[in-house]
Amino acid sequence: MSPEAGAGATASEPWGEVVADALRRIGSAADLDELQVLEVDLLGRHSAVVAARSGLGAVPAEQRREAGRALNQARAAIEEAMAARRRALEETARAARLDAERMDLTEVRPSRRRGHLHLVTQARDRLEDVFVGMGYRVADGPEAETDWYNFEALNFPAGHPARNMYDTLYLELGPPESVLLRTHTSPVQIRVMEATTPPIYAVMPGRCYRQDTPDASHLPNFHQIEGLVVDRGISFADLAGTLDAFTEAYFGAGFHSRLRPSYFPFTEPSAEFDITCVFCRGEGCRSCGRTGWLELGGCGMVHPNVFRAVGYDPEEWTGFAFGFGIDRMTAQRHGIDDLRELVTNDVRFLQQF
Ligand code: DAH
Repeated sequence: MSPEAGAGATASEPWGEVVADALRRIGSAADLDELQVLEVDLLGRHSAVVAARSGLGAVPAEQRREAGRALNQARAAIEEAMAARRRALEETARAARLDAERMDLTEVRPSRRRGHLHLVTQARDRLEDVFVGMGYRVADGPEAETDWYNFEALNFPAGHPARNMYDTLYLELGPPESVLLRTHTSPVQIRVMEATTPPIYAVMPGRCYRQDTPDASHLPNFHQIEGLVVDRGISFADLAGTLDAFTEAYFGAGFHSRLRPSYFPFTEPSAEFDITCVFCRGEGCRSCGRTGWLELGGCGMVHPNVFRAVGYDPEEWTGFAFGFGIDRMTAQRHGIDDLRELVTNDVRFLQQF
């Protein structure tokens, strides 16, 4: 394998076999590492071509030129094959790497599925539309609230037992337990009253927080919509009629509401309101505990202390308020039996709505 120039080969093809053998080995190098080793072998310091070059001096002068030319050709052929194989192997390695690093985006192929608003956002928008259609305006307030807005002004003085109904998350801001994540949208009632003079017809949707472990019927972060009416001569009948009109406008013909006595510090009298069960349409089924009704939220006549807190004269103004959970209502409307589906962001679930 180490032909002295011309030895053991024809004069025209002294390197024929060496080159052919080299090209065969280059062609079968499986990857860049193998090619690297081969390059040292075929073109490195101890290779046949380098050895032959140092041996040229021993070649008789009249043959030296020809021998040198043949050697250069042989080396060029090997180098060229080496470079070509390197390019091919690099391309293969690049393709393999791209393939391995590729992200599978097929589940959200934009040509097939367009994005849309989240189910709860759609519900909030529809609720707003229904109330705007009834002459209400939409207002909002901050999610981080002070104790005063979330409790105090709503007639929950410090230490009031009804505060225990709310598993409040406090923020480390100001004096201890003075700033919190609002546990309901009712504080926005206070903000709206402070900023306006009656009459008020407003709804206030938004996010609320409670220290709750998520399960099929609870989320620590959920949505409510609050309603507030303040005007002269507003009665409990107005409240009942409004909720019934809303129920039919939102859920459809054949859906009704009913009120049951309850307690909230900021309303007097207070009630819980139920709607015709969406599953059995009032017949009575497992979902409604055979009553034909599903609980939707709370309501009542605005307590005089709440009016006093915002500087309204309770002798002059009357009003009602209501509040209910959007997530739970949405789940009921679509027959979703686990609220956690609303927040796990599974495209297969979300795209159904
Ligand atoms: N804020 C109450 C809650 O989250 C719900 C509620 C009850 C709102 C009665 C009201 C109301 O406006 O009048 O439990």
